Amino acid sequence: MTLISTISEPQSTLAEALSNRPVPKIRIAAFCETTETHDMVALAAIDRRMMRANIDFQMGGTKTAIRQYSNAPTPDLILLERQVPGDLLLEELGRLAEVCDAGTRVLVIGASNDIRFYRTLMDRGISDYLVSPTDAPTLITAIGRLYEGADAQKLGRTCAFIGAKGGVGSSTIAHNVASTLADRLQYDVILADMDLPFGTAGLDFNIDSAQGMVEALESGDKLDELLFERLLGKCSERLRMLVAPATLERPYDLGEEDVDAFVDMARTSASHVVLDMPHLWSSWARRMLVAADDVVVTAVPDLANMRNTKSLVEALRKARPNDAPPRLVLNQIGVPKRPEIKIADFVKAVGLDPLVAIPFDPKPFGTAANNGQMIFDVAARSAKPFAAISEALLESSGGKRRGGKGWGFLSRLSPRRRSA
Ligand SMILES: Nc1ncnc2c1ncn2[C@@H]1O[C@H](COP(=O)(O)OP(=O)(O)OP(=O)(O)O)[C@@H](O)[C@H]1O
Ligand SMILES: [Mg+2]
Repeated sequence: MTLISTISEPQSTLAEALSNRPVPKIRIAAFCETTETHDMVALAAIDRRMMRANIDFQMGGTKTAIRQYSNAPTPDLILLERQVPGDLLLEELGRLAEVCDAGTRVLVIGASNDIRFYRTLMDRGISDYLVSPTDAPTLITAIGRLYEGADAQKLGRTCAFIGAKGGVGSSTIAHNVASTLADRLQYDVILADMDLPFGTAGLDFNIDSAQGMVEALESGDKLDELLFERLLGKCSERLRMLVAPATLERPYDLGEEDVDAFVDMARTSASHVVLDMPHLWSSWARRMLVAADDVVVTAVPDLANMRNTKSLVEALRKARPNDAPPRLVLNQIGVPKRPEIKIADFVKAVGLDPLVAIPFDPKPFGTAANNGQMIFDVAARSAKPFAAISEALLESSGGKRRGGKGWGFLSRLSPRRRSA
């Protein structure tokens, strides 16, 4: 059976317009004049980049805000929609400033798109001004920029791989994509085996490194660059890895917060972070999937996989309204004598075209798994799907550069400068 090549359309440009930087743990209060802006803020509030921020929003203008904060502390950021003439707005902002605590920033959404007015607002200490109507990605990017800091490092992209069912080949695909990105396409990659009790990354790369993954997850605030570098196992020049202990000496119960510090650290250390997820829907696993820049769901063409893929795609679409849907990889197509659901029917049911459909190819896959090798090193021809998946991930990051090394000049420009 031959590889069914790349099928899906390029991902939405919406996600590309958004920065991949999470907004820090700040308190935000939004005062909206129109229901359109109220709904837009509600959409921004559930965005994955806003996961750590706490955002309250209500209808009301400057008066409501002033009344609310006359005798109460102000949050880190006030979003104020105000569609009034410039002079009146400046006067109202002056009164709002009187009740604001030092350190509170104000972002205004207004009707004027006059650059002189924008400059006047900036001179008066307003942090940013968006012309209405605006949208959730623009708002999130503007908030992110406020808290980015001048010395902010570029963050690597995270890609989470999960199987629609156990044993479908998700880890094999994650490992081979990580290796393709690092060894063939020359990106700096960190592969994290999140399947703590049963992970196979150590076996697949023939690496016998201690408990890198567990220590990284359990170090919390103590996880600094030095410790993190020490925990990484080196697979090749550009591929480093956090190995799962894969022992059952103790149970592994992770909290939602445990994973944040680790992912933050990994993203400052490599341009791509590949998360090999277990087939699990716990709170931390869901958080990681929702927060990832890209999600790849692997499924084999049977009924249970089809139902689970549909559930996963729907849940992730709902939780990531401002992002492209997950990528679908169909795997193990054409197992002899096994009845299977036709690709067209599978696609129709889940509402998503597969990025690639990988044939059941037991010889190279079995040899690679048992020898601790990558498919490319066993049978280069069978590794084509991993190149296609890697290219698609690079495309969605806006950085498709075959043979590119680490950070590119364009990718270093902020969205604002890029559109200037
Ligand atoms: N296209 C394929 N053809 C043949 N064998 C395959 C193919 N894809 C994966 N396999 C084999 O299937 C087995 C399971 O793969 P893998 O461990 O990657 O699945 P998984 O979805 O990560 O499983 P788990 O639920 O345990 O995490 C491995 O032995 C692997 O070599
Ligand atoms: Mg796995």
